[in-house]
Amino acid sequence: MTSFQVAIDGPASAGKSTVAKLVAQKFGFIYCDTGAMYRAVTLAALQQGVAMDDEAAIIEIAQHLPLRFEAGDPQQVFLGDQNVTQLIRTSEVAANVSAVAAIGEVRTAMVAMQREIAATDNIVMDGRDIGTTVLPQAPVKIFMVASAYERARRRYEDNKQRGLPTQSIEALQAAIELRDQKDSTRAVSPLTQAPDAIRLDTTHLTIEEVVNEISEIIEKTQQIG
Ligand code: CDP
Ligand code: CDP
Repeated sequence: MTSFQVAIDGPASAGKSTVAKLVAQKFGFIYCDTGAMYRAVTLAALQQGVAMDDEAAIIEIAQHLPLRFEAGDPQQVFLGDQNVTQLIRTSEVAANVSAVAAIGEVRTAMVAMQREIAATDNIVMDGRDIGTTVLPQAPVKIFMVASAYERARRRYEDNKQRGLPTQSIEALQAAIELRDQKDSTRAVSPLTQAPDAIRLDTTHLTIEEVVNEISEIIEKTQQIG
């Protein structure tokens, strides 16, 4: 039996991972944060002192990434024995991840891992290209957006809550807009709404409201299917 797939895409800090996790919990589906995977490749390259324009070395890292997820809140991310859950969220990783994610062979390696994970169980997967490339047959596709200011404000609050060092809201907004621009204009699998995705603007919605909207869409789709 094929698994039921929910694809959630959208720009940085639209609320994808927060909502995806809650929806997964509610329906008993597994959750896959594909952004964490690109961040882990970026961190591994930085830790190994690889130059960010050394594509061959970055591809080699992506193809042999000792990545593991463990259950937890937040979900714990490991590279080999090293717990990198916090390290993949630094501004240094955020500043470099779009360049790493633009490399075609890096994407091929990540997409293969993502499809393997999706084949194991019912799943909610969030990222940039899930509805367009990774799981194009997903019966539920959401494209989640919010204003750039609101997304920067959320990221600022999020950093403070997680006890992470944070830039100002203005600096975060500039960094987020730059990353969105790079993600939307890259040649391979750019950030774009799939024609059959439902667009959800979360600027003025609470997390609970977004979870409820997506839950209704899933329930309706399950009834039809
Ligand atoms: O959480 P945030 O929205 O800041 O980003 P993320 O989901 O952790 O993704 C980090 C970066 O990975 C994005 O800016 C993209 O460059 C890349 N990414 C991607 O290219 N494709 C995906 N499916 C997921 C992330
Ligand atoms: O995964 P993505 O980068 O799209 O965003 P996130 O990391 O899930 O969300 C960024 C922050 O926005 C989190 O701290 C959420 O609690 C907050 N938030 C939200 O996700 N959705 C709302 N409707 C309101 C706030």
